[in-house]
Amino acid sequence: MDIINFKNFSWKYSGYRGWTLHNINISIKKGEFIGIIGKIGSGRTTFCSSMLGLVPHFYPGIMEGEIIIDGVNVKETSISELSSHVGLAFQSPANQLTGAGTTIEEELAFGLQNLGVPYEEMNKRIKDMLKLIGLEKFGKRSPFELSGGQQQKVAIASVLIMNPNVLVLDEPTSQLDPLGTEQVFDMVKKLSKKGITIIMSTNNINYLSKFADRIVLFDNAIIKVDTPNKILTDIELLKKHSLTHSDITEVSIRLKKMGLYKGELLVNLEDLKKVVQGLIK
Ligand SMILES: Nc1ncnc2c1ncn2[C@@H]1O[C@H](COP(=O)(O)OP(=O)(O)OP(=O)(O)O)[C@@H](O)[C@H]1O
Ligand SMILES: [Mg+2]
Repeated sequence: MDIINFKNFSWKYSGYRGWTLHNINISIKKGEFIGIIGKIGSGRTTFCSSMLGLVPHFYPGIMEGEIIIDGVNVKETSISELSSHVGLAFQSPANQLTGAGTTIEEELAFGLQNLGVPYEEMNKRIKDMLKLIGLEKFGKRSPFELSGGQQQKVAIASVLIMNPNVLVLDEPTSQLDPLGTEQVFDMVKKLSKKGITIIMSTNNINYLSKFADRIVLFDNAIIKVDTPNKILTDIELLKKHSLTHSDITEVSIRLKKMGLYKGELLVNLEDLKKVVQGLIK
């Protein structure tokens, strides 16, 4: 079953000459994990914003076509109503935390209070979320005392607590260190296993290759949609759109040149490990 459907969707920001997104057509199935890649300014954030209705309701501009998400038409649905279908987490966790509450529990309660969720139900959801992000013991702490990775997990939890079926993440790890990045990817993987549809924009292609079902390459339009291996090892395609392949792919290229490996180019660390282990046996 499709949970997201873009039909001939185009978007132009007011006062901006060209189309930022042009003729986007894509259907995404419930439970899929979609990775979005593209160079700077390729329209990834705009694409993410369109699923929560920031485009077209918040930013002025011209929209063509249609977006149907979790059964509702984005153009005809308010941002606040959309937020019970779609959760959106941005790059910087510190900017997303409302600061409305002094503790993590209060931060998580914020959206639910606005929705008028009963107290008992609210407490249960907060407990479940703290468990999910592994911060059960930190509920009474200030979110600003946490590491970047922990803050990002609280920010993601604060959108998940609204029970959306779709979670959109726009470069959620670009400001995190390797440990924080791993924590966030692990959490997103857990959510994906629970059946939440994940749309994640990131240029962290090593992780994407491990987790994503499909990758979408953006350059103001959808250039290509395919499996992680097909897109992330297509050196010419990536270069044409100002992206570089991963270190893992580079190692597999060099092994091939040295005549030590004859298979397909690799993008996954586990696959590379197997090849190297075969060589040193
Ligand atoms: N609020 C806005 N008003 C006008 N133009 C905008 C606005 N936001 C983005 N743009 C323009 O739309 C284009 C795509 O921007 P967008 O932020 O969607 O790209 P991106 O792929 O997320 O890039 P980045 O690597 O910077 O995150 C850019 O040319 C940008 O200047
Ligand atoms: Mg962006």
